[in-house]
Amino acid sequence: MSEVRKEGADRVYHGLEGILAGESEICDVEETTGGLFYRGYRIEDLSERASFEEVAYLLLMGKLPNRKELSDFSGELVRSRPLPETVRRFLKTVPTSAGPMDMLRTAVSFLGLNDPDRGSNDRPANLRKAIRLIAQIPSLLAAFRHAPEEPPSSDPSLSHAASLLYLITGKRPDPFSEKVMEISLILYAEHEFNASTFAARVTASSLSDMHSAITSAIGSLKGPLHGGANEAVMKMLLEIGGIENEERYIRDRLARKERIMGFGHRVLKGGDIRSDIIKRYSKELGEKKNDRKWFALSSRIEERMRQEKGLHPNLDFYSASAYYLLGLPIEFDTPLFVCSRIAGWSAHVIEQHDHNRLIRPRCLYTGPRELPYLPIEARP
Ligand code: ACO
Repeated sequence: MSEVRKEGADRVYHGLEGILAGESEICDVEETTGGLFYRGYRIEDLSERASFEEVAYLLLMGKLPNRKELSDFSGELVRSRPLPETVRRFLKTVPTSAGPMDMLRTAVSFLGLNDPDRGSNDRPANLRKAIRLIAQIPSLLAAFRHAPEEPPSSDPSLSHAASLLYLITGKRPDPFSEKVMEISLILYAEHEFNASTFAARVTASSLSDMHSAITSAIGSLKGPLHGGANEAVMKMLLEIGGIENEERYIRDRLARKERIMGFGHRVLKGGDIRSDIIKRYSKELGEKKNDRKWFALSSRIEERMRQEKGLHPNLDFYSASAYYLLGLPIEFDTPLFVCSRIAGWSAHVIEQHDHNRLIRPRCLYTGPRELPYLPIEARP
């Protein structure tokens, strides 16, 4: 015991920075180039050429689907969209003051109570659970968004991306809006051992179940240093209001040592390829919608952050204005991250269960020792 403490004394890695905490075949993040690969496929190819359904299949099954496999998988997703009646009743009890991330954290846990494969962690059961979660998380958001009215009923002819937009906004998206949502879902789907995925794997490593692991992940994603950043970015852009206020706003915040949301990354210090991709689409969306203000303001902030801090935007920065231009409510920005990352999280839970070893690190104790135990009446 004392041996371990001595050995660890000069080896504390705060925030586990730089630690390889396990092995995975799911995703590779190249620290130096900022490159990103899902199961060996370059993110540039996947985001331009694949559908979200294909990418979710790839992450979960480990290979790209052929035509029949994709059609079966997509059909299963469509059939799984409707929520169980018990969950619909539960959603009616969620206070209107609750945020959608709090609702999701609780509702995903609630879905676990009703899951037909509850009690099994085997691979086929986990895959069925993953498909139901990917399909039903958008339905949870739709029910919450339109409460107390009924949400739009699911249209089986719509792709996952188009259906998501339709369920939340109530409007069928034009092809370019659908494309932007599709790309965003693909870009957000997976990023190796980020905080929420790691939270999911820690939970799964005790051989706990898929819904428990995903509930942990949602709780972790909610914070502004992780998934909560996209929502915070749009609030900031609205607060700045226009390009004329940008310089003072950013300089003041930096002078107060405050963080500018959507910048920086624990691993990608030289830039985030996902940001370059979504940036192009955010710009084009602004042009198509004839609302160029948010892109102009965002690119001005990007330039200033590069000059002042040497920091690059991460995926959350230009996603915020893209979602805004798609007509999505700001408080749904982080839940949209969940709609996508559920694919990566569930792939990781399956991988963890397949090659499990309990995740249980040590910490360096820095508190006092051998304190005298005083009876309560003798304590100051
Ligand atoms: N704004 C201003 N300064 C920043 C920012 C920022 N966004 N990010 C980092 N810095 C500064 C820090 O203040 C620190 O400066 P100092 O050395 O003068 O004290 C330096 O850069 C290093 O920062 P760390 O906190 O050590 O970097 P870390 O690797 O821990 O941080 C993190 C990564 C948490 C993402 C950070 O960059 C941050 O808070 N960014 C804003 C939140 C955000 O956008 N999160 C989304 C992450 S990506 C994703 O979830 C898809």
